[in-house]
Amino acid sequence: MKISIIGIGAMGSCLAKGLMSSTTLQLFDKNPDKANGFNSPEEAVKECDLVILAVKPKDMEALLKLLRSKLTPDQIVISVAGNIDVAFLENHLPESPVVRIMPNTPCAVGKGVIGIVESKSLTPDVKSKLEAGLSPLGHLHYLPESQIDALTALAGSAPAFAFVILEAMIDAGIEMGLKKPLSQELVTQMWEGSLELLKTSGKNTTDLKWQVASPGGITIAGLDQMEQDKVRAGLLNTLMTTWKRATSKINY
Ligand SMILES: NC(=O)c1ccc[n+]([C@@H]2O[C@H](COP(=O)([O-])OP(=O)(O)OC[C@H]3O[C@@H](n4cnc5c(N)ncnc54)[C@H](OP(=O)(O)O)[C@@H]3O)[C@@H](O)[C@H]2O)c1
Repeated sequence: MKISIIGIGAMGSCLAKGLMSSTTLQLFDKNPDKANGFNSPEEAVKECDLVILAVKPKDMEALLKLLRSKLTPDQIVISVAGNIDVAFLENHLPESPVVRIMPNTPCAVGKGVIGIVESKSLTPDVKSKLEAGLSPLGHLHYLPESQIDALTALAGSAPAFAFVILEAMIDAGIEMGLKKPLSQELVTQMWEGSLELLKTSGKNTTDLKWQVASPGGITIAGLDQMEQDKVRAGLLNTLMTTWKRATSKINY
């Protein structure tokens, strides 16, 4: 399988990293240093099975217009743009199977989450090519377009929130006198272990929380402070604001 990626910025480069060991890649970006020998989008999409468009929403229309006459009907075009809906893609590329996806940055290490919007282009043949091409990036989830903004908040944007939370915990360790590498190691190992426990123990998050907190003990003091500081409400608001922004379709 050959995959073309147009736009090798933050997301395009994560997708390229995640795919480089499984696929032949044809990369193009306005910056020639990021393109692997291809001089234009038209050149980079030649003979590719999947064409991934990873440009900002504001640059998508011009790119679709440029590519329309250069694509063959068997080439599957995949947009990762947050605000561009399936109808827009279908209107601009009526002869092509078009797919809207929402990936996240952990795709770079094969542990991503990718939402795939259900549409008429997703025939069994298109689905099997998509799965063959995109599976090395992580977990694939098919969902109706009405739910893609929720996936954008919970998985597309959320790595940024996760890193803020991690950073705050690492900073706390440093303030307690630990060296940064040790603080980071302890925090990342704690997250990995906690996630594994959630996935394999059969217990829910509330049970697992109370397992740590003994009456009158150390952890309950921290949990009380979390509630006083409205950490839970802050996180909920963070995700709802992100979701609302995604549903607003403001171009960027
Ligand atoms: N970043 C994320 O975590 C994330 C997550 C999910 C989805 N997305 C989606 O991914 C898309 C890209 O986001 P990003 O954060 O990767 O943006 P970015 O870092 O700005 O990358 C976009 C790249 O595309 C280049 N470009 C623009 N028009 C082009 C064209 N016609 N041909 C070739 N290259 C072109 C840009 O060059 P210039 O800078 O020179 O214009 C830039 O290098 C967006 O639509 C976004 O919604 C991003």
